[in-house]
Formats: sequence, C-alpha cells, structure tokens
Amino acid sequence: MTKRVITFGTFDVFHIGHVNILERARKQGDYLVVGVSSDQLNFAKKKRYSVYPQDQRVRILRALRFVDEVFIEESLELKAQYIEQYKADVLVMGDDWAGKFNDMQRHCEVIYLPRTPSISTSEIIEVVKAL
Ligand code: CTP
Repeated sequence: MTKRVITFGTFDVFHIGHVNILERARKQGDYLVVGVSSDQLNFAKKKRYSVYPQDQRVRILRALRFVDEVFIEESLELKAQYIEQYKADVLVMGDDWAGKFNDMQRHCEVIYLPRTPSISTSEIIEVVKAL
C-alpha cells in the first residue's frame, strides 16, 4: 500500500533547508503532499507578507521531483481536515514545531525532522536588505 506523507510550510524564498526537509519527508513514505500557507495565512503567522506570492510558491514546489501534490493551506485550524482529505499516513514537520502537533497523532503518525542549521527565509531577507 502507498504510504502518504503530508507536510506544511510557507516555503518563501525557496532555500536549501526547504529542499532538505521535503526530500527527507518524501523518504518517510511513497507520496508527498505539501500544504503551502496562503499569503493571508502567512501574514497572520509571521506578520509580514511573503516575498513570493502563493501561486509562485505553489509552482516552485510542484516543479520538484520529490513533491507529488501541492495545495494551499488556508487556515492553521484545518490540519486534521487536510490530513483526512489527503489521506495522509504520516505528518512531517521541522523540529522548530516539536511537540506542537502531537494531537494530530489521533489522525496519523507524527514525525519531527531536524531543521537545517543556519538558514531561514527571514535570515535571507535580512542578509539581502543589508547588501
Ligand atoms: N525548515 C528546515 N530547515 C530550515 C528552514 C526551514 O527544515 N533551515 C523547514 C521548517 O521546519 C518547515 C519547512 O521547512 O517544516 C517550511 O518552513 P518555512 O517556515 O517556510 O521556512 P523558514 O525558512 O523557517 O521561514 P521563516 O524564516 O520565514 O520562518
């Protein structure tokens, strides 16, 4: 049986930490679904708009060979619904979220993978601003 993996994130200003988590998420199963934060949701979470609009973030993710399916995550409250809708067996999150999604264990297995050190979208934005 196909093991389906789901993960969530903004994936703005796509970087090597994003490649690493998605590649490792895909290895937890056979099919990887990515929920990408909408522009509105990202603003609500991070108090700034993403550099790349949601449609471009979706297209970049769809172009990756280890990503099978991409959808827009409209609300943080709908995690359980998305897990059911996309029939996910495993939820993968970066360990910056460690423990925060344990209640999803009612719906599927939950795995936290270590973040890639020393890189983030916020940091890249700061570096570019300072150039
Ligand atoms: N991620 C990671 N390693 C990094 C950066 C991100 O594994 N160095 C993972 C996060 O844990 C998350 C996914 O990539 O599971 C999407 O994270 P996102 O918030 O979009 O990226 P960040 O670079 O963390 O963005 P920001 O700086 O805006 O918080």
